[in-house]
Amino acid sequence: MNQLELSDKYLMQTYPRRTLWFTHGKGIYLYDCQGNEYLDCISGIGVNVLGHSHPEWCGVVNEQLHRLVHTSNLYLIPPQLQLARKLIELTFPGKVFFTNSGTESIEGALKIARKYSRLKYNSKRWEIISFDNSFHGRTLGSLSVTGREKYRNPFNPLIPGVNFARFNDIQSVTSLINENTCAIIVEPVQGEGGIIPANKSFLKELSQICEQNDIILIFDEIQCGFGRPGSWYACQDYEVIPDIILSAKGLGNGLPIGAIIANEKVQDVFQPGDHAHTFGGNPLSSTGSLATIHIMEQYEILQHIREIAGLFRNELEHLSKKYSFIKEVRSRGVMIGIELTPDRSAAEVVAKVREKNVLIGTCGENSLRLLPPFIIKKNEVECLISRLDAVFENLKK
Ligand SMILES: Cc1ncc(COP(=O)(O)O)c(C=O)c1O
Repeated sequence: MNQLELSDKYLMQTYPRRTLWFTHGKGIYLYDCQGNEYLDCISGIGVNVLGHSHPEWCGVVNEQLHRLVHTSNLYLIPPQLQLARKLIELTFPGKVFFTNSGTESIEGALKIARKYSRLKYNSKRWEIISFDNSFHGRTLGSLSVTGREKYRNPFNPLIPGVNFARFNDIQSVTSLINENTCAIIVEPVQGEGGIIPANKSFLKELSQICEQNDIILIFDEIQCGFGRPGSWYACQDYEVIPDIILSAKGLGNGLPIGAIIANEKVQDVFQPGDHAHTFGGNPLSSTGSLATIHIMEQYEILQHIREIAGLFRNELEHLSKKYSFIKEVRSRGVMIGIELTPDRSAAEVVAKVREKNVLIGTCGENSLRLLPPFIIKKNEVECLISRLDAVFENLKK
């Protein structure tokens, strides 16, 4: 059987039919079995932050692979301890719990918020406020706080006590708060929803409300954090410090790892027996994550992201002036959304861009999504823009 037949016969068809696969990658390029080279500007949906086969990263991970892969959290894991310390140094005083994915980070945070509030207040204080258009993952808890009905509805009933406010509308939040509200969960930049940044004043007010009412403020930075905005976490740009930051995706540069970074207020809510993962932060994924951070520090990659983000903004502004079907370009660092007018289909544009050997994605109602690796260079951005330009030029016809 060929790959397509194997896929059709043995995989649950949870994605639109895929026809492309890759044999290897190098830097920001992926290669298919015929040797065709693709400019990867989606990075495994915001994951391969150092691109593919980064030599130093591979060296460190390879060494760990041959020494020790997994022991479980029944024992201390030295690279995990180093990683926890590093994440705390990069954020705020507190403690870390490691997971394997974004959605598991969400689940753990919801449990922390509920346990904190029920212990401190009453057994009814378990309501959560989330936002329209948000995306937090596919497990039942994460789905329950995801603000897009198309994802939630097929799986109802989900966990009760979740209310949805309007993103960037503080009035809509205050009108939902009551004595049973235990947590507010928000993406500082909505990713799946269309790359929509929160307003600074909105997040500041949200944080004040949470502080006044002892509500746990959770920032889902699974897509918008870990360097992508040009700072370690988006909350640092916004100058708003939540109680919990959730991380995953780029954190392991491709190895599955997520983190719940909790401040001193909630760091000790979980007691032995409350929560666990078999794999979370195992020796291999922790080593991979630590190596990613070290490389980002050594090569001043955050500074590079800020510079490259400026180039992206200028170039895309130019394109948006040139093509009337570009409704809006929104970005935060190297997290970029290009919204198209409703008469164009983002999915069709992505397919046309792929014919030019460039990989990008979609998001929101009708936006193109670019999540390039952080190591993308100036000439690669220019190459990407010229290929987009060529596709857009043809769309005019
Ligand atoms: C903001 C956000 N939260 C949570 C998730 C879920 O992460 P995962 O797919 O690793 O479970 C995603 C995934 O796209 C995300 O973008």
